[in-house]
Amino acid sequence: MSKVDVVLGTFYGDEGKGKIIDYLGGKADVALRATGGNNAGHSIEVDGEKYVFHLIPSGILNKGTLAIIGNGVVVDPKVLIEEINALKEKGKDVSNLRVSTKAHVIFPYHIEMDKMLEENRGNGKIGTTARGIGPCYCDKYERCGIRIEDLYSSRFHDLLERNINNKNKIFSLYNYPQLDVEKIYEEYLEYAKIIKEYVCDTTTLIHKLLKDDKKIICEGAQATLLDIDFGSYPYVTSSNPTIGGIISGSGINAHDIGEVYGVMKAYSSRVGAGPYVTEQDNSIGDTIRELGHEYGATTKRPRRCGYLDLVALKYAIEVNGITSLCMNHLDTIGKLDKIKLCVAYERNGERTTEFTTNEEELLSSTPIYEEFEGNFGDISKIRNREDLPDKALRYIERIEEFVNVPIEFLGVGAGREEMIHEKKLIKRR
Ligand code: IMO
Ligand code: MG
Repeated sequence: MSKVDVVLGTFYGDEGKGKIIDYLGGKADVALRATGGNNAGHSIEVDGEKYVFHLIPSGILNKGTLAIIGNGVVVDPKVLIEEINALKEKGKDVSNLRVSTKAHVIFPYHIEMDKMLEENRGNGKIGTTARGIGPCYCDKYERCGIRIEDLYSSRFHDLLERNINNKNKIFSLYNYPQLDVEKIYEEYLEYAKIIKEYVCDTTTLIHKLLKDDKKIICEGAQATLLDIDFGSYPYVTSSNPTIGGIISGSGINAHDIGEVYGVMKAYSSRVGAGPYVTEQDNSIGDTIRELGHEYGATTKRPRRCGYLDLVALKYAIEVNGITSLCMNHLDTIGKLDKIKLCVAYERNGERTTEFTTNEEELLSSTPIYEEFEGNFGDISKIRNREDLPDKALRYIERIEEFVNVPIEFLGVGAGREEMIHEKKLIKRR
């Protein structure tokens, strides 16, 4: 049994990572978030109760599972405390939560800066979640960021004052209101007190756990095409939601990683701006949005919807070393009369199956589709793949044949149990 398994998004986020994590998490001792912040929104339904996680690993719902927020995450302590309280109100035990001393802290100036930058992007808006994620990572790399451990240091006031004074100069240039150092200082001292019991050196903890043969599931946030390096830059998030981010955002080493689960939908979606080759900005996209309830868990925005793009999926598999696929919403796509599947792009008059992250090249790529029969009927009760209608099998098998990675999990309905699980993993190259 591998020590660490990883769940990652293959497309533009919102692939239903929460559902697979929930399924795998039952067998794990540790649930870990290593990247992003409360821009993520992972919904899970347990015993008829709906939980939406933005920051805390959803594995915390499993009794006894240690939930770790790693160093690569950017933490808004206000949101963290709200999430802790919401869990406590539902009678859940949160004493198993751990937060890295090295995680960077989101402050109100990051959130204001996120909004201000977005307002001033003119036609080039990214459509960020306005949670301060980008500006917080900017400070981290500029080396003026404030880490969780700094909240408990005598240097905290000075660090904060320097940062706020610098940001206030920028805010005044844009005629934005000034922020008050003392008010934020007092507010964050309070937060620091509340979260103190959860704070520790998570990297040391992780290595102790691995020595004790504990099983870790890494809960990826965001997705491959939102990656700052491998996504459709600049319409991306400010971290590496791909496999490298899991390693640098936790301190786990590459040798300990076993299975890499790539989560996808039987169609695709994107929230926020940026190129999207298989988008259906028409009645088909509207139908998919309604059938799949494609509205943001974090920002409630309607998601852009379209067909599945195998060129992009192949790329996500290559970048992350995905060993197994988890495909959600087979039931949703099966409600259409005809289903299209993108098997290549036409770019500059040529057919290609190579993805590109170059914005102009993406915008000039047109999808080449194969068409499949829809109308699968009610498949929500099916638990064995061979019991699926032939029409559904033809669609699934074409995807597997193209990418040469098995689809181990198939979501056939929204419910926790509505899933077909057939263990078929591939060995990495
Ligand atoms: P989960 O984990 C979908 C998108 C935003 C925007 C871009 C940058 O639920 O799959 P940011 O606030 O991160 O600077 O915004 O990234 N985005 C997501 N889209 N699901 C997510 O997370 C996302 N996290 C960020 O919409 O286009
Ligand atoms: Mg989301």
